[in-house]
Amino acid sequence: MSDTTPIYLDHNATTEPGAEVLAAMLEGMRSLWANPSSTHAPGQAARRALVAARGQIAALLGCQPAELVFTSGATEANHMAMLGALALGRRQGRHRLVLSAVEHPGLLALAERLKGEGTPVDLIGVDDQGRLDLNQARRLIRGDVALVSVMGANNETGVRMPVSDLAELAHAAGALLHVDATQLLGKSLETFESGGADLWSVSAHKIHGPKGIGALVVRKGLALPALLSGRQERQRRGGTENLPAILGFAAAADRCLATLDADLAHMTALSLRLETGLIAALPQVQRYGALAIRLPNTSCLRFGALDADQVLGRLERAGVLASSGAACSAGGTQPSHVLLAMGVSPLLAKAAVRFSLGRHTTAHDIDRAVEAARAAIGPLLQVEVAAPDAFTAAASTGASTGVAMAGTSPAAASSRRADAQPA
Ligand SMILES: Cc1ncc(COP(=O)(O)O)c(C=O)c1O
Repeated sequence: MSDTTPIYLDHNATTEPGAEVLAAMLEGMRSLWANPSSTHAPGQAARRALVAARGQIAALLGCQPAELVFTSGATEANHMAMLGALALGRRQGRHRLVLSAVEHPGLLALAERLKGEGTPVDLIGVDDQGRLDLNQARRLIRGDVALVSVMGANNETGVRMPVSDLAELAHAAGALLHVDATQLLGKSLETFESGGADLWSVSAHKIHGPKGIGALVVRKGLALPALLSGRQERQRRGGTENLPAILGFAAAADRCLATLDADLAHMTALSLRLETGLIAALPQVQRYGALAIRLPNTSCLRFGALDADQVLGRLERAGVLASSGAACSAGGTQPSHVLLAMGVSPLLAKAAVRFSLGRHTTAHDIDRAVEAARAAIGPLLQVEVAAPDAFTAAASTGASTGVAMAGTSPAAASSRRADAQPA
């Protein structure tokens, strides 16, 4: 790759589809386009391909093929898990939901909607490192809880959640445990089986598979109601199966399983190289969740108190693609709910920049990224050092500094990120 190719360090948002994925999808579109529910020969060929793909994906997830329900992605899987578990729980007088305060925005939005409709919802907080408060979890997980829902690892900070502990707590209280394992897949050896959960959401596009396909693993014997009614997926998810996407997912799963150990070691070494390189080049760099157990590929950092939009704009012009945890809405850029839950001030939360590495990231990419950051962000940090009071005051009160910086104008930055969401 030439030294002008942008360095993609945003793998938690999505990953580039692998060559084997593209080939499998093309084959699915070209030769296996018949409906797997049809009884004629092409339909049955499609069905056989579907069965084989289900087995390949189940092998990566550590579940039985029959436990896997294909969905349009992790968002749908999360919805199916929460709504289904609540419906099941209500039949036994369990009507409460308990989830972490740092869940993916789609799941938090669903919980908020359910709360508005009268479902009691409790949020488990995190400490200043992003680690789940297990003592609070113990207090909240009681006999009236239908579902405990937690992500396996946080998409913004990479901080891992104590899945096995929560499985124990949930099961002791008679509740189900759902894990949004979207960010665990391909970045951890933890599986559905080892985690001990009842429900497990994943998405193909985080492991170099296609977008718009994912799965919910439903523990054998759990009669979870469907979100979309229909005959497919053993009545658990209606709609003609998206076979090309499922074949792409299976190809990605095969590749992921084959290189997982090596990928984990590779990403761990490069994340360390990135963090130590950045801190050595720019001593104002601070890490979020530095003391927590994190994914091997995720570094959530701030450069002094510089606004993430400014930093990202400069990095992009220097050839480095990363992201922030902030979400834009009509009211302007909102600080990340994850960092706010960690007790970070709104100003410093808006300063968070996420670098997420992938299996194709090289040591050369990391060295280039560190050098680009030193050259592009260093001068801004000098300005910050020259006017520290404004930053310190704003950081502690959460107010805007009002200090104009060279680089991306706020208007340009917010239009660039008008529909941005943490992924
Ligand atoms: C933790 C987590 N959950 C859910 C999602 C949503 O996944 P999908 O894009 O497949 O709906 C994402 C990624 O965007 C994620 O990081």
